[in-house]
Amino acid sequence: MYRKLLLTLFLSVLLGVLAACGGSSTDNEQDASESATEEGAEAEGDSDGKVYTVATDNAYVPFEYLDEESGELVGFDIDLITELAKEAGIEIEIETLEFAGIVAGLGSGKFDIGIAGMTITEDRKENIDFTQPYYEAGLILAVTEENANEIQSIDDVDGKVVATRQGSTSQKYLEEETDATPEAFPEIVEAYQNVLAGRADAVLYDLPNVQFYSEKEAGGELITVGEKLTGEDYGIGFPKGSELRDKIDEALTTLKENGTYDDIYEKWFGERPEGT
Ligand code: ARG
Repeated sequence: MYRKLLLTLFLSVLLGVLAACGGSSTDNEQDASESATEEGAEAEGDSDGKVYTVATDNAYVPFEYLDEESGELVGFDIDLITELAKEAGIEIEIETLEFAGIVAGLGSGKFDIGIAGMTITEDRKENIDFTQPYYEAGLILAVTEENANEIQSIDDVDGKVVATRQGSTSQKYLEEETDATPEAFPEIVEAYQNVLAGRADAVLYDLPNVQFYSEKEAGGELITVGEKLTGEDYGIGFPKGSELRDKIDEALTTLKENGTYDDIYEKWFGERPEGT
């Protein structure tokens, strides 16, 4: 009886210590994304103690990617979801996987939240609930200098091999709106590399990603051509019927109103969004 009490005491002290350790790392803002990526990291819930799983990608500059120096997951989406969770008073844990799996996993209820530069489309809305748009993108075609004469816009891609990412709106666009031969890769970086190596004639993808990659990684060797195509509004996704959607949507409205959204936008895109 006495031993049992001692053991219980010992266990509760141990638990207390563990909880304190967990707490200190999540209290630190700098550590938020890091601790969130540690699988199974125990975080203290503000409200009900539940930790919601956020699915994202790790190779979509500048929305979510691994920082070369620190190896940490960073980006516009990561900052935004971190602030949104704070505003909504919920605890989150970030999980990374390839893009097509995020869309499918939200549909099947495997994740609570998905943020991955994901365009709100009618097709996806059948399986996923979205917030209001949080970023307005569009698709753009890019080529190397050698191909820039021959391919000046989307009207010139028929019969050409155009690289893009699997499961993306660009892949759908190529299949439905052009007579190009789409080549869709699990990672967009492979698509860019194939174009740079001359194995594909062009790449079609979201404008901010193409621009960022072209400037920061490809030393300007990828040139965007033609007009920006289609409206691509990014939304944060949830399994159908999730009651979290309204909470996060409200938090998004607040961050847009109180300037937090604009600050994050400026940090990643170097300017404030239009109209502010
Ligand atoms: N906006 C496009 C789509 O929704 C591409 C998004 C890719 N995002 C990513 N994290 N890889 O299909």
